[in-house]
Amino acid sequence: MKCINFSAIFYLFITQFISTNVTAQASPERYRPQIHFTPKDGWMNDPNGMVYYNYQFHLYYQYYPNSSVWGPMHWGHATSKDLIHWQRQPIALYPDSLGFIFSGSVVVDSNNTSGFKKNGKTPFVAIFTYHDMQNEKAGRNDYQSQGVAYSLDEGMTWTKYDKNPVLKNPGIKDFRDPKVSWFEPQKKWIMTLATFDRISFYSSPDLKNWTKESDFGKDVGVHGAAWECPDLFPINYNGEKIWVLLVSINPGGPNGGSGTQYFTGRFDGKNFSSDQKDVRWLDYGTDDYAGVTWPAVDNRKIFIGWMSNWQYGKLVPTNKWRSSMTIARDLGIDKIGDKYLLTSQPVSELNKINDKEIVEENIVAPDYDFTKKMGKLTGPVKINFTTDKIQTFSVTLSNDRGEKMVIGYNKEANYFYADRSASGNTSFEKEFANFHYAPRLTPAQDLNFTMISDNTSIEFFADKGLTVMTEIFFPDKPYDKIVLHSTKDFVIKKLSAAKLKGIWK
Ligand code: FRU
Repeated sequence: MKCINFSAIFYLFITQFISTNVTAQASPERYRPQIHFTPKDGWMNDPNGMVYYNYQFHLYYQYYPNSSVWGPMHWGHATSKDLIHWQRQPIALYPDSLGFIFSGSVVVDSNNTSGFKKNGKTPFVAIFTYHDMQNEKAGRNDYQSQGVAYSLDEGMTWTKYDKNPVLKNPGIKDFRDPKVSWFEPQKKWIMTLATFDRISFYSSPDLKNWTKESDFGKDVGVHGAAWECPDLFPINYNGEKIWVLLVSINPGGPNGGSGTQYFTGRFDGKNFSSDQKDVRWLDYGTDDYAGVTWPAVDNRKIFIGWMSNWQYGKLVPTNKWRSSMTIARDLGIDKIGDKYLLTSQPVSELNKINDKEIVEENIVAPDYDFTKKMGKLTGPVKINFTTDKIQTFSVTLSNDRGEKMVIGYNKEANYFYADRSASGNTSFEKEFANFHYAPRLTPAQDLNFTMISDNTSIEFFADKGLTVMTEIFFPDKPYDKIVLHSTKDFVIKKLSAAKLKGIWK
């Protein structure tokens, strides 16, 4: 009879155990967000071409499939029925002899103004920037121009227009990121384009012939780097139509590196005008850049941004793929004094992935440990709480290695903050561990605060989204504890929290 060698079995078991656990820890997959869109591999930056058709949201994005750092830009593609669950789709646009495919937009040309319709198929038209690397290297300044492509199968496959570019470069180095929308009162297309230190508006009857209408912004807002990725849209506020212009800038963001400012005002089909004197940021965190919106769906203006920052985007320790998108957000307007301010809130569809919700009312607990009620965190979590009287507080996500990500509010100084100084691996970039501030923009006593965390990100929406911060982090071990610290007189009127179910199968 064969003798069983227990020590060999034990040895095998131990080595197997160690190797799976070490692999799990060292694998870049442990940083993979569970409820945010990421490419399977390769490099991703700006969201592009967001469009909704046939109950389907499309998200295209700046993509380089062959490496996890930026390279010759393609448009990646994903679709969703609910803005939460995403299906990765084949690459939509490849670079060609006219250049890389930089950021841009997609419209559904229902009236066939472009003439691209064939066999009764409504065309999707993509308007994007061609970036000609060779001309850039040759020292020319006209290497960015606008091209179009069309799709007759609802955005899955694309044909480039054979007379590209449709908008040639007039001699401006930074001439990019066309965001096109239909302006119904004058039945024409409007292109909002970043042209170095301003935004230029063009119009067109057919998406092929473009006429310059006006410029905005040379003397307002934050400058110092080229303006990028604009978006122009109206939002209704109590029956008033407020036009919002988003403008991204890098560097120059409120907490270093990339950031997105906005202006509120009026648009008449030719000029955008604004009385705004102050600088306003869509998101005060470091990791929400180049975001733009879907055309209004059921009167909702939905936004998504690139959840990273050019200052360290290519250095973050995910290696196999780089970057994710923010959670999709509903934009709104709130009036504070005489200012119309933009608000962002996570889309309500997020509730679909709640995994059991805990709800508590009227509690005073200076150190409220969510994990006592919900069990240890195993991934994403969402928290919302309200109070009638805001006080100093913080929310800390942590693990047993002493790594922590802290967000909160300092009443004396009246600012919100995000502190990732002890969040885990911060060594890949010297400013990554900095402390980040955001102003409170309302004098109200009460507060409504929502926070969503994923494996490597936190997004919070204070005062119903008047102050927003989005930040990424890379703990050596996932955070499994979450505690709300506050003063003894902090009364939470209502608190709800839920773990969130991952969106990837
Ligand atoms: C913004 C941006 C755009 C450009 C794209 C290139 O992040 O610089 O202006 O079109 O990225 O990938």
